[in-house]
Amino acid sequence: MLGDFTYCNPTRLHFGKNALERLDDELKNYGKKVLLVYGGGSIKKNGIYDDVVAILRKCGKETAEVSGVMPNPTYAKLLEGAKVARDFGADLILAVGGGSVCDYCKGVSVSAYCEEDVWEKYYERFEEPDCKIIPVGCVLTMVGTGSEMNGGSVITNTRKKMKVGQVFGEKVFPKFAILNPEYTFTLSKYQMTAGFFDIMSHIMEQYFSGSDDNTSDYIMEGLMRSLIHSSGIAVKNPHDYEARSNIMWTASWALNTLVAMGKTTDWEVHMIGQAISAHTDATHGMTLSAVSLPYYKTIMKYGLEKFRRFAICVWDVDPCGKTDEKIAQEGLDAMERWMKELNLVLNAEQLGVTFDMLEAIADSTLIMEGGYKVLGRDDVIKILKESMRYGQ
Ligand code: NZQ
Ligand code: ZN
Repeated sequence: MLGDFTYCNPTRLHFGKNALERLDDELKNYGKKVLLVYGGGSIKKNGIYDDVVAILRKCGKETAEVSGVMPNPTYAKLLEGAKVARDFGADLILAVGGGSVCDYCKGVSVSAYCEEDVWEKYYERFEEPDCKIIPVGCVLTMVGTGSEMNGGSVITNTRKKMKVGQVFGEKVFPKFAILNPEYTFTLSKYQMTAGFFDIMSHIMEQYFSGSDDNTSDYIMEGLMRSLIHSSGIAVKNPHDYEARSNIMWTASWALNTLVAMGKTTDWEVHMIGQAISAHTDATHGMTLSAVSLPYYKTIMKYGLEKFRRFAICVWDVDPCGKTDEKIAQEGLDAMERWMKELNLVLNAEQLGVTFDMLEAIADSTLIMEGGYKVLGRDDVIKILKESMRYGQ
C-alpha cells in the first residue's frame, strides 16, 4: 500500500539542443546580480562558459564568479562561496557544471544568510533553512546525480572525514535547469560511465525496499531498461544523441523524488560509497559500482521476491524450471556483465582503498534502515573486503 504523501517538483526544466536559448527568459525573473559558479574549468574548454557569459551580458546582469568547485565539494569551499554570495548580494546563483556544482550551489544558497553553524544545522541535524534562501538555476554538463531537479546537497567535511548528503525541501530545488545532452559529449568515458551507474544505483536504492505493489516499481523497471539499452549504445558511440538524451532524461527521473513517493527506500550503497569518497576522494559513481555487487549479494536472500522480479522484469531472465534463488542470482549476473561492458570499477582498491582504511570507512558509513537488511559495522567491512578481492 502506498503511504500518504504530498508531491511537488518545482524545477522548470528546459531540455534539448537549444535549451540554453531559454536562459534569457529565466533570467528575467531575478534581480541584476548573478553569481556564476563552476568547477575546474571544463566549461571554459568546451565553450559553455562563453555562451553563458554572453547571455548574462546581453541581459545586462552584473556578475561575480566562484570557480574551482571540486568533485566531492568540501565544506571549506562551501563557506567560501557563501561569503562571496552574501558580500556580492547575489539575486541568483547560476550553477554551470555537474552534480558537484549544483549540490554546492544549493548549499551556498541556504548558507549565505545562515547565522548558525552551517555544518551542524544542515549536515548533522538535517534541518531545513529558516533564513533567506538565494534562488539557484542550473546549466547541467554532466549526467547522473539528478541534482538538477532535486534538493540534494552532498558536501564533504575533510576534517571530520564525512561526506554527507542533505536532502532539502522544495524551496531549495533549482528554480530552473537547462539540459542540453550535447554538453555531455566532452565528458571522459570514466566520468560518463560513472554517471550511468549513479543513475542505476539511484533507481536500485529506491527499488530494493518494501514488498508492496506500487506504481513506482513499474516506473523504475522502465527507467532501468531504458538506461541499460541506451548505455550500451553510448559506451560504443558517446556522440549518439538519441542514447545520450534518453540517459539524461532518465537521470532526472531517477532522482527527482517522484519514484520514492509513498514507498520506503534503501540508500545503503550510497552511504558506503560516500564513506569511501570521504577517505579517498574517489569519483561518486565508481564508489557505488565498487560495492554494489557484494552489497546486493549480501542482502539478496532477505528480499528474494524483489530480486527475482528484478531479474525477470529488468534483465529478461527466463524463470522456467529455476528456483527463486537461481533466478535472482542470474539477474545479478546479468547486471555484472553490463557493468563490465561499461568498464566500471568493481574493485575498491582501484579507488585508492587499502585494507588499513576499512575500519575507518566503516566508521564513516551511516547505517540506513529502509533496505532488506540493516547492516552492522562488520557487514560493511565484509562488503568492502569482498569488493577488494574482486577479480583476484
Ligand atoms: O570541474 P570540471 O572541470 O567541470 O570537471 C568535472 C569534474 O571533474 C567534469 N565535467 C563535468 N561536466 C563536464 C566535465 N568534463 C568535461 N565535459 C563536461 N561536460 O566531470 C567531473 C565530475 O563532475 P561532478 O560534478 O563531480 O560529477 P557528478 O555530476 O557525478 O556529481 C557528483 C557529486 O554529486 C553528488 C555526489 O556525491 C558527488 O559529490 N550527488 C548528488 C546527489 C543529489 N544532489 O541528489 C545524489 C547523488 O547520489 C550524488 O551523491
Ligand atoms: Zn548517487
